[in-house]
Amino acid sequence: MKKQKITAFVKEVNVRMKKEPITLRYIQILGTVVFFTSISSLVILLALYLNQRLQTSLFLVDDLSSSSNPLTSPSLSDEELMRRAAMAPRGTVMNDHEAHHPKVAFMFLTRWDLPLSPLWEIFFKGHQGFYSIYVHTSPEFTDEPPESSVFYKKRIPSKAVEWGRSSMMDAEKRLLSHALLEPSNARFVLLSETCIPLFNFTTTYAYLTRSTRSFLGSFDDPRPMGRGRYSPKMLPHVSLSDWRKGNQWFEISRRIAVEIVSDRRYYAVFEAHCRPPCYMDEHYLPTLVNKICPEMNSNRTVTWVDWSRGGPHPATFVRKDIRVGFLDRIRFGSNCSYEGEVTNVCFLFARKFHVSTLEPLMKLASYLYGS
Ligand SMILES: *[C@@H]1O[C@H](CO)[C@@H](O)[C@H](O)[C@H]1NC(C)=O
Ligand SMILES: *[C@@H]1O[C@H](CO)[C@@H](O)[C@H](O)[C@H]1NC(C)=O
Ligand SMILES: *[C@@H]1O[C@H](CO)[C@@H](O)[C@H](O)[C@H]1NC(C)=O
Repeated sequence: MKKQKITAFVKEVNVRMKKEPITLRYIQILGTVVFFTSISSLVILLALYLNQRLQTSLFLVDDLSSSSNPLTSPSLSDEELMRRAAMAPRGTVMNDHEAHHPKVAFMFLTRWDLPLSPLWEIFFKGHQGFYSIYVHTSPEFTDEPPESSVFYKKRIPSKAVEWGRSSMMDAEKRLLSHALLEPSNARFVLLSETCIPLFNFTTTYAYLTRSTRSFLGSFDDPRPMGRGRYSPKMLPHVSLSDWRKGNQWFEISRRIAVEIVSDRRYYAVFEAHCRPPCYMDEHYLPTLVNKICPEMNSNRTVTWVDWSRGGPHPATFVRKDIRVGFLDRIRFGSNCSYEGEVTNVCFLFARKFHVSTLEPLMKLASYLYGS
């Protein structure tokens, strides 16, 4: 009886011993299956999530390329930016929901900030929809004006500029490219931080948009600082008779702006053979426009500057210079041709005005820009 019991017990233990490993193995297998299933579900979920993210970002990139405002994509290379600008429409396009009028693009090429901006704020006030603003600064300059300013978020991705070198032309082309990507921009003005407007916005806008010609200074200067800077190495692309000089601060039509950002041939010639004391910003554009579309240019600039004091730099005006008589001589004191008529309004902007002129100019603002 005892032995029987013992035998039964031993049998049971044996069975259990055999059974248990099987159960354990089942549990192990089940565990493994559950483990791998969860891992793969995680992987699948992660993949789905990443795919979604990727699609969203691809969509965003696509959205940016079709957007007319590339300011939000600072990663766009100069090469790509200019390629897109070169393909921009040559005529002005008005998109109904955004712009009803051709716009004037005001492009500020500055070293740092815009010390005379309060004057420009008055100039632009109340004329939204008729202008665009683009600002190229030193890349280290990152201050943002207040949200209420017309200059708020108008800075384009900028690079360092060496005055008189090709990097200056690159900055001008960068500004033009950004401005060209806005299809309603019809005219393009390049201004510096020392420039002031001489008339109110309405007068300025009408003068520019009604002109069939551009205002890019271009003349044949026989002196050493003109023809003397020409190099015969530029042949056969540029001959001495093509060579022109002119004020850097231009005002041009959309057609000429597209030609400028599209040009590679003449740019390469100038980059190689026009180095100080040849200044690319004084010769490249006047010569280029003279080569490719001379009939579209008035050959005169609308930005007044005073070279009469001599020396390598034009005069800078300070506080004590600001008088009504002085400003009116600039505004009405010359004769020139405008659309086939002689006029005494030849300049719309003037430079170079020191920051100390801001206060007296602000006091004269209603005289200058009022009715
Ligand atoms: C500007 O100069 C070019 C030659 O460089 C000439 O063909 C063109 O007619 C001039 N424009 C005007 C308005 O005189
Ligand atoms: C401009 O033309 C007017 C009228 O012909 C003349 O009286 C004036 O002296 C001219 N001004 C200049 C700066 O040449
Ligand atoms: C702008 O100036 C012109 C000419 O001086 C004047 O006739 C016009 O009324 C002015 N416009 C405004 C909005 O002040």
